[in-house]
Amino acid sequence: MLSRLHFSRRIVIAFVLMTVMVSGAFSLGIVAVVHFVESQLISKELHGKLGAVLREDVKAGRPPRLDSRTRFFASRAADPIPERFAGLPAGLTEIEDEDAAAYVYVMDINGVRYMLVQEQQEFEDREEILFAVVLAGFLLCIVGAWGLGAVMARQVMAPVARLAGQVRHADQLGAGSAPLASGYPDDEVGGLAAAFDTTLGRLRRSIERERLFTSDVSHELRTPLMIVSTSCELLLDTPLSGRQREQVERIGRSAREMTDLVRTFLMLARAEGGGAMEGETATLGEIAREQGERWGGVIREKGLAFEMLTEASSPMCHNPTLLRTVMSNLLRNALHYTSAGGVRLVLEEDGFRIEDTGMGIPADEQEHIFEPFARGARARGEGLGLGLSLVKRICEQQGWTITVQERQPAGTCFRVAFNAAS
Ligand SMILES: Nc1ncnc2c1ncn2[C@@H]1O[C@H](COP(=O)(O)OP(=O)(O)OP(=O)(O)O)[C@@H](O)[C@H]1O
Ligand SMILES: [Mg+2]
Repeated sequence: MLSRLHFSRRIVIAFVLMTVMVSGAFSLGIVAVVHFVESQLISKELHGKLGAVLREDVKAGRPPRLDSRTRFFASRAADPIPERFAGLPAGLTEIEDEDAAAYVYVMDINGVRYMLVQEQQEFEDREEILFAVVLAGFLLCIVGAWGLGAVMARQVMAPVARLAGQVRHADQLGAGSAPLASGYPDDEVGGLAAAFDTTLGRLRRSIERERLFTSDVSHELRTPLMIVSTSCELLLDTPLSGRQREQVERIGRSAREMTDLVRTFLMLARAEGGGAMEGETATLGEIAREQGERWGGVIREKGLAFEMLTEASSPMCHNPTLLRTVMSNLLRNALHYTSAGGVRLVLEEDGFRIEDTGMGIPADEQEHIFEPFARGARARGEGLGLGLSLVKRICEQQGWTITVQERQPAGTCFRVAFNAAS
């Protein structure tokens, strides 16, 4: 349980426990020493007094001469021992009643018992005061230890807490900012700060490399893609046969798609943690029509049926590049993994679903297919298993939800919900 407590709390507890042990031992020691010294001194004093009485008074047959606090008794008729003192052992005994406190010193000589009883209420009162002082000191020590422990804990933990804060906001420390370790002495915390510096440096360098890679790639791809696009446009202006024109148009479309894709990857790399992406927008209906035209033809060419259904239409606008990438990946999979029957693209009020009558995805595979490089046992062709992972990342980035279900008797249904309400 202790290990679950805050570090500073643990330091305070250690302080207090230590103090309880040390000052407790001291207090008990004081009490024991006082008791010991008391019995030794009193015993010696009463022994001397009783001896004197016996020697000087009893021998001479005189009544004992004693101060008012001390009385003499003996087991003979003249000074009978009171009932309450009968049966005490020889030597010193301390007696404490509700009404009085006394020392009783007993000496047995030749079968006769002699006894001195000395009142000691005053001494007892003083002793009680001493014990009260010792107890108060003990309690004060504990309170003091608590306070000191709290101050020390705060001081000891302050650099750790500061370092934690700095690491938590490490994204605000630019590459040029001073290393964390420079703000700490060369101790354990300094070592921790230096370790963080090394890790943060490595992290920054790899992020920087990745950023440069994405921007280099997109920058370098843009020019050849532009050349392909303009060459296509120029070619389309020359006299071409119908079939040639079709091919050139396909090349142009693909070049535009590639430009879009490069932009998608750039956006995904940059727009970490969601947020709106700048640029044009399109409704679900627009993108669905475009993708339906593009994939409908290929699907029918394979001998499958393709159908686009609008259950509800929504004026909501989305990032067209991202929505296009999601939809085309799902349609490509549907085409790829279906050999008989057909594919349906259904537009819903808050999203869309793509149903096929293909081989289906077993329930135990469904949770893995969204991982990068994961392919199902029934996968075929040359895919890498990256399509659905890209789809999933786009959905997460945009706040969409993607789910998959098996269809009866065969097939798969992927549903994307835009969660517009939230
Ligand atoms: N409509 C579908 N019907 C049946 N299985 C599917 C369907 N869509 C995806 N899968 C399964 O999910 C796996 C992962 O799909 P994903 O699109 O990520 O990769 P892939 O299609 O194999 O390769 P690629 O990287 O080229 O897309 C596929 O290998 C396949 O087993
Ligand atoms: Mg795929």
